[in-house]
Amino acid sequence: MTDLNLSPKNPARAHADALVLAVAGTDDGARILTAEPMPAKAVAALDTLLPALGVTGKADEVVRVPAGEDLAATVVVLTGVGKVTDRPGLEALRRAAGAATRSLAGTEHAVLALPAENAAQVGAVAEGALMGAYRFDHYKTSDPAPVARLELATPAAKTKEAQAALARAVAVGDGVRATRDLINASPRHLYPETFAEAARAAAAGTDVTVTVLDEQELVAGGYGGILAVGMGSARPPRLVKVDYAPARAAAHYALVGKGITFDSGGLSLKPAKSMETMKDDMAGAATVLHTVLAAAALALPVRVTGWLALAENMPGGGAQRPSDVITMLDGTTVEVLNTDAEGRLVLADALVAAREERPDAIVDIATLTGAQVAALGTRIGAVMGTEDLRGAVVTAAEAVGEEFWPMPLPEELRPSLKSSIADIANMGDRFGGMLVAGLFLQEFVGDTPWAHLDVAGPAYNEKAPYGYTSKGGTGMGLRTLLGLLEAAAAR
Ligand code: BES
Ligand code: MN
Ligand code: ZN
Repeated sequence: MTDLNLSPKNPARAHADALVLAVAGTDDGARILTAEPMPAKAVAALDTLLPALGVTGKADEVVRVPAGEDLAATVVVLTGVGKVTDRPGLEALRRAAGAATRSLAGTEHAVLALPAENAAQVGAVAEGALMGAYRFDHYKTSDPAPVARLELATPAAKTKEAQAALARAVAVGDGVRATRDLINASPRHLYPETFAEAARAAAAGTDVTVTVLDEQELVAGGYGGILAVGMGSARPPRLVKVDYAPARAAAHYALVGKGITFDSGGLSLKPAKSMETMKDDMAGAATVLHTVLAAAALALPVRVTGWLALAENMPGGGAQRPSDVITMLDGTTVEVLNTDAEGRLVLADALVAAREERPDAIVDIATLTGAQVAALGTRIGAVMGTEDLRGAVVTAAEAVGEEFWPMPLPEELRPSLKSSIADIANMGDRFGGMLVAGLFLQEFVGDTPWAHLDVAGPAYNEKAPYGYTSKGGTGMGLRTLLGLLEAAAAR
C-alpha cells in the first residue's frame, strides 16, 4: 500500500530516496517542467544535461539519474509528459505520475514535484501516482513492494479544494487497485462464493449493505439465466447486491456487472489460447463493487445499487447444452445456441432484478464480446443504450481520462436473434456481434434509461504496462462510472 500526502515545502530540499520531475518535449527540445514550490534554478543544471542524457520527454519515458548538488534527494526520476506547448493536460499528468511511481517499486520515500498548482492537477497527479504504484504480488514469494510513501509538492497543499481532490484520488486509487486485485486473482481462488465473501469483507465497516443470493435462493427466485450458466461448474453461482443508500439522495443509479469468474465457453468450449485471459471475465462485477464503495467513501448524495452476476462458465456434467431453452427472471424464454454467449444470460437476470427497484438509470459493464476488441482494440471501451445516458457516459469518460465511444443498437440486427422455438436466441449475426449482444440486453431493461459498457478489450492489459496502467487487470471503467455518479449528484 502506498501512502500519499500533499506538501507545500520546497522539494529541492527534501531528503527523499527519489525526486520525480516532469520532462516535456517542446519545439526547442526537452525541458524540465517546474512549478511552485519547486524552484526552477534548482534543476537548471540538470535541464542542460537532458540532450546528453538522451531524454526527450516523450510519454512513458522514465529515466533515473543521480540528483546532483542542488537537490537533497538521492536520485531524480525524470518522467515524460509528451509534447507540450503550454502546460500538460490532466491525463498527461496522470500518466506521467503513474509511469514514475511504477518505476519506484522497492523505494521507501519519494517526492513528486510535477506541475500541480491547482486542485485538478493535484487530483490528476495523485490518481496517476496511486494507480501506477500498484503491483500484484499476491502469489509471488519475493517481489519488491510498491513505493511506500509519496509526497506531492504543491502550493495548494493547505487548501480545502486540494484536500478534497486528494481524498477523491485516494478513493479512485483504492477502488482501481482493489478492482485489479480481483481481476488478477487466480480463478482457482476467486469463484462466485469467494467473490461474494470478498464483497462482504470489502463493505464491512462502510455504509454499503451486501445481500447475497445463493444457489437455492436463485432457484426459488427464478433466476434462470444465472443458474443455467452456473450449472456446468462444481462451484455454484451467486447474485450479490451492494447497496449504498444515503439519506438525501439526488437520484438512484443501478450498476450491473458481469461476473463470470472463469469463462471456458462451457460446452461451446473456447480454444485454449482464447481461454488464457478468461479469469478477467468478472471485471465488470469487480468494477461495480468498487465503484459503489468509492461512492460511499466520498459520501456522494446518490443512491447506488450494484448487482454482481456471478457464475463460473464450465463444461461439467451439469452444464447447459447448445439448444437448451431456459426461462429468465422476467419469464422470457431463451434458446441457448452457444453456451459461450453466457454473459448476456447472467446480465439479463441481473438487469431485471435491478429494474424491479425502479431506479432512475441502469448502467451495466461487461467483458461481453470479442467483437468489441475487434472494433475498438484494447484501450477504448464501447457504450450502447438510450441516447441521453449513452452521451452522459461519453462525457463522464472524457472528463476522467478514459475513453468510451458511442455505438448504435441497429434495429435491423434484432431479427437475427429470433428463435424458432423460444422468445429469443442468445446468439445472432456474427458481424456486429457487439451490437447484437447489446440488442439482447435491451430486451431486459424495459423503459428504464440504460447504458451498456462493453470493456472486453480494455479490462485487461496483456501487453507491457504504460502510464498508470499495469499488466493484467486495469480497472478501466471505474473512473467513468464514478464520474457519472458525481454528475448525477451535482444535478
Ligand atoms: N467473455 C467473452 C468475451 C470476450 C472475448 C472478452 C475476448 C474478452 C476478450 C464472452 O463471454 C464470449 O465468449 N463472447 C462470444 C459471444 C459469441 C459466442 C456470440 C464472442 O464474443 O465470441
Ligand atoms: Mn463466453
Ligand atoms: Zn464471457
